[in-house]
Amino acid sequence: MLQDPVSWCCDFRGPPASIGLDVGQSGVFPPFDELREVWSRALSLFVLVREKRSVAFSWSAYGESQGAMEKRRAAHEETGQAWDVVARVKYRLEFDAHVDHLRRGGTNLFEPGIELLHPLLPGAHVVQLQCSHGLDALGLLNAGAASVLGVDISREMVAQAESKARVLGLESSASFIRADAVAPPAEIFDTADVVYTGRGSLPWILDLGAWADSVVRILKPDGHIVLFEGHPLASLWDRTVPHLRMRPGASYFSAEPAEEEGFPSAVVRREAGEDRPRMLERHWRVGEVMDTLIAAGLEIRSLREYPDLFWDQFPDWPEALRDKLPNSYSIVARRPAGA
Ligand SMILES: C[S@@+](CC[C@H](N)C(=O)[O-])C[C@H]1O[C@@H](n2cnc3c(N)ncnc32)[C@H](O)[C@@H]1O
Repeated sequence: MLQDPVSWCCDFRGPPASIGLDVGQSGVFPPFDELREVWSRALSLFVLVREKRSVAFSWSAYGESQGAMEKRRAAHEETGQAWDVVARVKYRLEFDAHVDHLRRGGTNLFEPGIELLHPLLPGAHVVQLQCSHGLDALGLLNAGAASVLGVDISREMVAQAESKARVLGLESSASFIRADAVAPPAEIFDTADVVYTGRGSLPWILDLGAWADSVVRILKPDGHIVLFEGHPLASLWDRTVPHLRMRPGASYFSAEPAEEEGFPSAVVRREAGEDRPRMLERHWRVGEVMDTLIAAGLEIRSLREYPDLFWDQFPDWPEALRDKLPNSYSIVARRPAGA
C-alpha cells in the first residue's frame, strides 16, 4: 500500500466528527500539526525514492519446507515487527496529543464509519482488530461503546495503547492484546457485539479466509462486523503524477502479495537499514472480501463505496477528480444466531 507521509491511514487529524459528543475545535493541537509537517518533509523523499523501486518478493524467504499457512503467519509476524519500529519513531511522539484528544471526548472515526457504527455502539462490547496504538479503539468508548478490546500484532502498538488507557483511567473498560488477527486467543471467542476494523488493516492480512473465520469466532451470535477500508482500486493509481494513471504493472486482479513501498516501509528502512523486517501487503478485491465473509457464515447487511479518502494518497490530483472514484468502502455483516 502506498501511503502518504502526511496523512496516511493511521493519522490523527484532530477531531473529525463525533457521535452526539463535543469533540472540540479542529486544530486544537498545534504541536501535532508541527510534528506532522516535519514528518511530511522528512519522509517525502523516502516515499518518492521507494515508489520508483520494484521489489522482488518470493515466499521462499520464509523457508522452503514451511506450509503456506506457516509462511503467511511468519510474514504477519515480520510485518508486526516493522510496525513496532513505526510505532516507536512516529506514534510515541503523538502520544500526548492523542491523550488530550480522547480526554476531550474525541474520536478518530470518519463519517462513513460513524454512520455505520452509530446504531450499534451504545452499550456494546467492541473488539477492534488491528487497533494500532489505541486511538481509534479508545475513541469508540467516547462514541458510546461500553467496552473495547483492541487486538494488534505489534507489541509496541499494544504497549502504547495500554499506556493511553492507563493514563486516561480507562483500564476497566479498555484492554489490548497482542495477537495475529487471523489467530485470536480462544478467550475472546463469542464475546463481541461488534467487531470493528479497517482503515489500512486488511492489506496486511495475507490469509483472508482465516481472517473471516476469526471474525465469526469473535462475534457473539447476532453480533456485527463493521469494516471501513480503503478501496483496492485506489491502490492502482500512480501517486507520482498529478493526473489519473495506473502504476506500471498494477492490476486490480493481482493476487500476489508485494512488499509495501510507501511510508511505513520507508520509515522502517531508515531506522533498520537493509536488514529491516519486511512488510508484505495484498489488496483484496471488494468482491473477494464479501465472498469470504459469506463463506465464513456471515450475512451481508450492506456494501457501500465512497469517494472519501481517509488518508490523502493523492494530494496532487485536481479537485475535480477527487469525488469521481471509489476511494473507500464499507461492509456490515451479521453473525446469524445459528452460525
Ligand atoms: C495502518 S494500521 C491500522 C490502523 C487502524 N485503522 C487504527 O488506527 O486503529 C495497521 C495495524 O495493523 C497491525 N497489523 C498488521 N498485521 C496484523 C495482523 N496480522 N494481525 C494483527 N494486527 C496486524 C499493525 O501492527 C498496525 O498497527
